[in-house]
Amino acid sequence: MADGKIAAAGPAPELLAYLPPNTPIEHHSGKLILPGFIDLHIHLPQTKVIASYGAQLMEWLERYTFVEEARYADPAVAEKGAAFFLDELFRNGTTTAVVYGSVHAQSAEALFADSARRGSAMIAGKVMMDRGAPEALLDTAQSSYDDSKALIDHWHGKDRQLYAVTPRFAITSTPAQLEAAGALLKEHPGVYLQTHLSENRAEVDYVRSLYPDAEDYAGVYESFGLLGPRSLMGHCLHLSPREQARMAESRSVAVLCPTSNLFLGSGLADRQTLQSNGVRTGLATDVGGGTSYSMLRTAAEAYKVEQLRGRSLPAHEAFRWITRGNAEALGMETEIGSIKVGRYADLVVLDSAATPAMAHRMERCESLEEELFVLLTLGDDRAIAATYIRGTAARTA
Ligand code: GUN
Ligand code: ZN
Repeated sequence: MADGKIAAAGPAPELLAYLPPNTPIEHHSGKLILPGFIDLHIHLPQTKVIASYGAQLMEWLERYTFVEEARYADPAVAEKGAAFFLDELFRNGTTTAVVYGSVHAQSAEALFADSARRGSAMIAGKVMMDRGAPEALLDTAQSSYDDSKALIDHWHGKDRQLYAVTPRFAITSTPAQLEAAGALLKEHPGVYLQTHLSENRAEVDYVRSLYPDAEDYAGVYESFGLLGPRSLMGHCLHLSPREQARMAESRSVAVLCPTSNLFLGSGLADRQTLQSNGVRTGLATDVGGGTSYSMLRTAAEAYKVEQLRGRSLPAHEAFRWITRGNAEALGMETEIGSIKVGRYADLVVLDSAATPAMAHRMERCESLEEELFVLLTLGDDRAIAATYIRGTAARTA
């Protein structure tokens, strides 16, 4: 390890022979060392929204989510929330996440500051929303542009932090605000764009009524220049063939969120169709619509969604998806997502026998593929033996 990056990788007996004397060694024998997990869509101000009962998307937003996000007007709430949030990500083996803040600039500020302090790579943005929510949660097209720009100028590219322009979704943004989001992307070519797209049928119908001139939901974003290779579109459950073609041509990423889609009753993603239509796909928790911070739990639900569609998801493919695959979706595969010389040493150590049920099941395990499948199906935060950021044990708050 040098400068937080991997200096050499290989079987221990080979590497140990070359180590300078007195090199500190941490042993993880019997465990699996993998690249840290990457979560492509999660909401910082929803750590106290997770597990809210009995509603689908639009009602869930109004009844629980907007109420809680309004509390982030208080910078102390944002700071405490960010500290809990990063602790919880690292406890679950997630070392990089793409994060929605609240409408308040201090939510993104708090996350970036804490992440920079701990050495992790986070991608985040303050939510832009200028209609369709309680007054206290609204910005304006101009103020959202100004606040986002200030955050980009301060944080984008600094200490491993990157900015994502974050219009919440077409329902809570006027055309003027989506135009401002497009302007921010044009003026800052390296930043990301994150939003929600086609999650819930009632949402899709509402978008059609708000944007009657648009071809379809994806067409709304497209007309403001919001599709592209750095665009992370959450959910993408009900896209038409035309929308999928536009996603593919623009190289936008469909970010699938199975625990959220099941919990909110939004639908089942069709990963195979998206992929065969050339759409890039990522995987994410979407906490607090999602029900777990664990990318293991998330991949396990993706497996079950595939089963409901009469297909499967091999464990090695699932693990690739939540590491290198999500890194590729971010265009960051030369920095994170694999264990190779020169990559950041953001790592997770997995214990396949972490619980009695896992240890018991592992007595019949005959291959690495099977071990990975046990981790996927039975694993959660208890299976995370250690998390490393830049080669050192992840710092808690
Ligand atoms: N659509 C708009 N906002 C949200 C949100 O906070 N969570 C989910 N799951 N969908 C959304
Ligand atoms: Zn979301």
